[in-house]
Amino acid sequence: MINVAVLGFGTVGAGVAEVLEKNGALIAGRLGEDVRLKYILDIRDFPDSPFGHLVIHDFSLIEQDPEIDVVVETIGGASVAWEYTRRALAAGKHVVTSNKELVAVHGAGLLQLAREKNVNYLFEAAVGGGIPVLRPIQQCLAANEIEEIYGILNGTTNYILTRMVHAGVSFGEALREAQSLGYAEQDPTADVAGYDACRKICILADLAFGRELPPEQVPTEGISDIALEDVTLVERAGWRVKLLGRAVRGVDGRVSAYVAPHLIHERHPMAGVADVFNAVLVRGNAVGEVMFYGPGAGKLPTASAVVADVIDAARHRTKRKEIGWAPWDAAAAGDPQALPMRLYLRTAAGRARVEEVFPGSEILAEAEEIALITPRMARCEAEKRAAGLRPCAKLCVLG
Ligand code: HSE
Repeated sequence: MINVAVLGFGTVGAGVAEVLEKNGALIAGRLGEDVRLKYILDIRDFPDSPFGHLVIHDFSLIEQDPEIDVVVETIGGASVAWEYTRRALAAGKHVVTSNKELVAVHGAGLLQLAREKNVNYLFEAAVGGGIPVLRPIQQCLAANEIEEIYGILNGTTNYILTRMVHAGVSFGEALREAQSLGYAEQDPTADVAGYDACRKICILADLAFGRELPPEQVPTEGISDIALEDVTLVERAGWRVKLLGRAVRGVDGRVSAYVAPHLIHERHPMAGVADVFNAVLVRGNAVGEVMFYGPGAGKLPTASAVVADVIDAARHRTKRKEIGWAPWDAAAAGDPQALPMRLYLRTAAGRARVEEVFPGSEILAEAEEIALITPRMARCEAEKRAAGLRPCAKLCVLG
């Protein structure tokens, strides 16, 4: 019998309880033993929930209970969750989490503590919600040098962009829908401003490139400055706008990462990734390109990944899974401004001036303003030249 305690009875915590209950017999059959949810820790009571009788308010009961094997942390944030995770690991308990902020900011230290205590710290649900992506990168792609990873990593912003364009819903209304569906963070600024996608690309880069990438080192733009006018204009020309997190390993081994909205051509497999769905593309030097796709947020999809980690932790009780990365080293970091890239611009500067500044541009639309895609060059050079055109809109272009 595996005994589990869930910390935080929000969307994901409630999903974990539901999946353990709904699929309990099946999970027990696969694992060879029962998984019992013994406690739910929350500051609130849930008298109307079928799990209300499991709710406790004192973490030390979990910490000191020798029956508890696995602690599931779904509190979120990097304060209380950090303290409880350290205490649970220190008490010799395996910890499973969906908390991307905690993993991105304190993952290296927590993995070190897990190693010292010979327990597992697993976080598949922290990136891509229900999509299996971290484990495949560590296991199935282990024979590759990873050259690049990028993806649509935030369900809320993808949902907002999709609803605005295809259902004519306003930004505020689309955000409210995403919140009511349980996709958005408690403070949705983390979604809209790109911080959530930033944490996720950091975790992907940590694992893929074996070195810590702290979120504060990653230039991050969100979707709040995107004009609906540009989204619809580029759609007519065969492009979609998506918020991407991207990390690229240069030939010198340095990793450059950033988060920004991008134009993606409609023929790219990521262009059709809509609503709350996420996609992660990994380019390895043996496999080429592989893409992972699925629901990037939501109660049961995220719980699916969390519970799979509970099962994996139980399977690795004696021989723990070795996961970790080297500490951040500024000398190993590349400059994202040096990455070759094309830019989308909308400007009133006039065709002659555009052709002078960016000869060979692709013109997408021309009226009082010109919408264009520049030729490929180092981003800093493209930005420098673009400044001379005083663009009213500027976006990165993928590819
Ligand atoms: N707020 C996140 C998103 C939840 O929208 O993708 C899943 O990490």
